[in-house]
Amino acid sequence: MKERTRTHRVESERAVLVGVLLDETRRSSESPFAEQRTLEELGGLAETAGARVVAELTQRRERPDQTTYLGRGKVQELLALVQHHGADVVLFDNDLSPAQTRNLEQAVSVKVLDRSELILDIFAARARTYEASLAVELAQLEYSLPRLKRMWTHLSRLKMGIGMRGPGEKQLEVDRRLVEKRIHDLRQELHAIHARRERQVAARDGRMTVSLVGYTNAGKSTLLNSLTGSDEYAADQLFATLDTRTRRWRLPNWGPVLLSDTVGFIRDLPHRLIASFKATLEETRQADLLLHVADASSPLVDAQIAAVRNVLSELDIDEKDAILVLNKTDAIDDREVLRRLEERYPHAIPISARTGAGIERLERAASDALAREFRDVDVEVPPANGRLLAWLAAHGEVLSQHFTPEKVTVHCRIPASLVGRIAASEATVVPHVAGDAARASTVQAPGTRHELTSG
Ligand code: GTP
Repeated sequence: MKERTRTHRVESERAVLVGVLLDETRRSSESPFAEQRTLEELGGLAETAGARVVAELTQRRERPDQTTYLGRGKVQELLALVQHHGADVVLFDNDLSPAQTRNLEQAVSVKVLDRSELILDIFAARARTYEASLAVELAQLEYSLPRLKRMWTHLSRLKMGIGMRGPGEKQLEVDRRLVEKRIHDLRQELHAIHARRERQVAARDGRMTVSLVGYTNAGKSTLLNSLTGSDEYAADQLFATLDTRTRRWRLPNWGPVLLSDTVGFIRDLPHRLIASFKATLEETRQADLLLHVADASSPLVDAQIAAVRNVLSELDIDEKDAILVLNKTDAIDDREVLRRLEERYPHAIPISARTGAGIERLERAASDALAREFRDVDVEVPPANGRLLAWLAAHGEVLSQHFTPEKVTVHCRIPASLVGRIAASEATVVPHVAGDAARASTVQAPGTRHELTSG
């Protein structure tokens, strides 16, 4: 089955890129990419997939042609380009219906892939873990189910020639059932993996987690390495990262947190792919803080930031508390460009993951953001109150405990919203003073302790 869904590999093929700019897209302020070199990114995707771009064709239209998306004259132009350059594949920036793809393929006699298929192809080649490959295979199969007929046409043309319609139709039915069965099995398998993952994430005992998100190639892996001192693969390729990776990050003034890197986002990510990767992004959803990394040196940075925000909202992840990180400032030659960016994103932190510029400021901002959400406190609990001790471990991060016959002093970090609940119990809560928890609490004279309230 895998072979069948992989019939679209474009590796080492000669590709013609096609982009149609629709009037409605151009007018819509939600598509800031429209006016800007729309084929540039498609070219990047094509190269990431291993194809070689030999020609480009663009057209402006009021709306897509129902049968071939492009107008009739442009289809002829495309045919001429394909023949002239000996192209093997046509890559469309727009999403095509199965019928449009079929008609175009007939007209130009080479295969035609749309943007979603291309992205799925890249994801398939990049998946490194079992879960990621299952997720991609599921997305591919769901995408190809309505297109099976076309794939069969490909196969019969290639392998058996025309005149095999009868067996082909029968085969199509068999294929469809096989694909449906595989989709069903994949869903079940992924479901089991997700349940396991949820248990793992929940079992982290309140350890703070910070998640890196951002447009593909923004520099997330490089930043992860520079913050955690590890030397992970960073490639100048789209989607080098398909799975989450988690590392310990020692935050000054805060201590160790878990930092995880996630799959790069992209505009118009195929919906099925987002659905399949939702579980991989479970870490992001549960994170205490998001660092949204953007490539400040890209002319498309505004649109990329907007695209990431869109994907996050599709994933039901609230982006409002994220810290925007403007990366690759070393690659900006014109200082004015950076100044204008900082003006547009006044809360953003400009850095260079490569040179280390701005990293300290980023670390401070991350500690401050966590400190706004969490309280670093010493809770004094009677030793017999095991329930409260367990509750603290479940809802916060317990950093140390100090026992005396009268009390247990627990140094922990808990969400600010929960502090009031502890203060209302028989425990005493005091802000933690840096240094030994027990010493900190004993140096405070009775009566000077102030109970914290929520918020
Ligand atoms: P995906 O896995 O596609 O999501 O990419 P990513 O966001 O993890 O990007 P990655 O860290 O792989 O970096 C992409 C490219 O940008 C690599 O060639 C990096 O060397 C380069 N890069 C990352 N940070 C910087 C930076 O601060 N300055 C410059 N000049 N290049 C950088």
